[in-house]
Amino acid sequence: MIKSIGINKIQISVFISGRGTNLKNLIKFSKRKNSLININIVISSKKNAYGIKYAKDNDIKVKIVNFSKHNDVMSLLKLLKQNNIKLICLAGFLKILSKKFINKFNGKIINIHPSLLPKYKGLNTHRRALEKKEKYSGCTVHYVNERLDDGKIILQKKIKIYKNDSIKTLQNRVLKEEYRLYPKSINKILSNY
Ligand code: GAR
Repeated sequence: MIKSIGINKIQISVFISGRGTNLKNLIKFSKRKNSLININIVISSKKNAYGIKYAKDNDIKVKIVNFSKHNDVMSLLKLLKQNNIKLICLAGFLKILSKKFINKFNGKIINIHPSLLPKYKGLNTHRRALEKKEKYSGCTVHYVNERLDDGKIILQKKIKIYKNDSIKTLQNRVLKEEYRLYPKSINKILSNY
């Protein structure tokens, strides 16, 4: 049987560094009937990132890239162009992309972050939100610039923090919202492509 490679779809690349559950969710989203996207290649900044498994299980190409090496990043840019990548989705990607890289994909790199940005950029968002006794948390999808978890917001989802929430319960509820918000944000920006 000839396998569809989604030639008429918008080719996207997902960048990961770890667990990869957002990647898993985006793969599922890309396989929906009438989906506009094809996940063409997954880029991992870590060779043993668990999320690589989801790409391999779904026959998606994977490339491990050392983002500290200029030459590797330049080769990655070439590879993304060769594969006609029109959108890069960062999903638990723990590196900061250089200005040069971002400029090459101007307005075509987006990220998901588990907080109501601009609050709680960086790591340990849930712990910090609980320590500050915030009443609300949530997640944000935004365009990427050269600063950490910064850039114009595409969509944001707010949820209530309960009195008895732990880091784990809050993280799980926010993650569930992430799985809805990322596909919704992709659809939103693709309507302008
Ligand atoms: C997600 O909660 C994502 O929002 C967060 O890392 C987690 C990755 O989980 N991203 C950031 O904190 C970016 N600054 P996953 O690997 O299972 O998708």
